[in-house]
Amino acid sequence: MRDQLIKLPYFAGSAGSVPGALFAEKLISKMPGMSRVYQTNSGSEANEKAFKMVRQISHKRYGGKKYKILYRERDYHGSTLATMSAGGQDERNAQYGPFAPGFVRVPHCMEYRAQWDLTGEAYAAASVKAIEEVIIAEGADTIGALCLEPVTAGGGVIPAPEGYWPLIGELCRKYDILLHIDEVVCGVGRTGTEWFGYQHYGVEPDFVTMAKGVASGYAAIACCVTNERVFEMFKDDTTDPLNYFRDISTFGGCTAGPAAALECFRIIEDENLLENTTKMGARMVANLWELAEHHKVIGDVRGLGLFCGAELVSDRATKEPMDEKLVAQVVAECGAMGVIIGATNRSIPGFNNTLCFSPALISTEDDIDQICETVGKALGKVFG
Ligand SMILES: Cc1ncc(COP(=O)(O)O)c(C=O)c1O
Repeated sequence: MRDQLIKLPYFAGSAGSVPGALFAEKLISKMPGMSRVYQTNSGSEANEKAFKMVRQISHKRYGGKKYKILYRERDYHGSTLATMSAGGQDERNAQYGPFAPGFVRVPHCMEYRAQWDLTGEAYAAASVKAIEEVIIAEGADTIGALCLEPVTAGGGVIPAPEGYWPLIGELCRKYDILLHIDEVVCGVGRTGTEWFGYQHYGVEPDFVTMAKGVASGYAAIACCVTNERVFEMFKDDTTDPLNYFRDISTFGGCTAGPAAALECFRIIEDENLLENTTKMGARMVANLWELAEHHKVIGDVRGLGLFCGAELVSDRATKEPMDEKLVAQVVAECGAMGVIIGATNRSIPGFNNTLCFSPALISTEDDIDQICETVGKALGKVFG
C-alpha cells in the first residue's frame, strides 16, 4: 500500500488504475463464470450498484416493469436506505422507514426454526417453493433479481439446507430472474475450501458483492462483480448516450484498496489459508458440539469454514430462544477473558440469541481450542 500510495494514490475510478485492473484480473481468476469488476468503498455501496443495475436493465429491456428485488427474511444487505429496503431484520430497520418501493421479502430457509414440518431436502424444496409463491403472487414479469446471502450472517449464521441452492438456480432461470449473491461476509476465504460461499453449491450468480475480506480491513475496498451476460445488457445500443452503467464515486478510484487486496490474495494463496480455514472451521464446529454436551443452553451449532454460530436456548425441547441480555453477558464474559466473540444483536425480534465466531483465517488449533474453552467457561459463569 505504501509503495502504491507513493506512485499514485488516486486516479478517477471512471478511468481505472493499474492496481485496480490487476486486482480485477486476479479476482475474476477466482470466480469462473464472472468477468467484470466494479470497485466500491463498502458492502452497502456494492449492493446498491447491483440494485441500480437491476433497475437499469428493467428500463432497458422490460419497459421498467421488471424492477422488483426479492430479499430474504433474516438477511442483511447494508445500512443505506435502499439496502435497508432489502433488509430482512426488522429491529435494524425500526425507525428508519418508509423504505424504497420495489423490494419484496421472501421466507428464510433456517431448518432449526423451520416454518414447515419438514427436514433436509424436503425442507429446502419447501423453502424454495415459498419463494416461488411470492414470485407468482407478485408476477414474475415484475421481478428483476433475487438477492441472497450464501450463509445468512448477522441473521443467525444460517447455511442453507442441502439441495437449496440448485433449486434457487433453477427458479431464477425459470422466471428470468437475476441472482445476486451478497458475499460481504462470506467472500474471500471465510467459508474455507472455496474463495466464495456460493462456490460450495455450484450455483451460478449474475452479481456477486463482497467487502470485508477483500483487503481484510487494511483498506476500504468492496466490489460488485457481474458476468458477461449482465455486461452485454449495457452494450446493446451504442447510439444512446445514456446506455451505460452511470455511476460515479469520489473514492472509487483510490488505489490503496486494490493494492492491499492484491497482497491479501497473495497471502491467502501462499499460506494456504483456504485449506487452514476448512480444517480450523471443522475443529471449531466439533468443539462447539462438544461444548453442547456440557451446556444444554446450546440448542444448535452451525457453520461453514471459519464462520460459525451457536444458538442459545432456554429450553432445548421447545427451542425457546435465550434472553438477548444473557447472550450479551456471554459475549462480555468472553471479552473479559481476552477472547472476542460476537452475537446476533438487536436484529430479529425475539431471536437475537446466536453466538457468532469469525476467527482470523490464520488461526491455529490452539487458537480455536482457546476460543471454545473460553466460551465454555463463559457459559458456565452465566448459566451455571
Ligand atoms: C451480508 C452483508 N451485506 C452487506 C453488509 C454491508 O456492508 P458495509 O457495512 O460494508 O456497508 C454487511 C455488513 O455487515 C453484511 O453483513
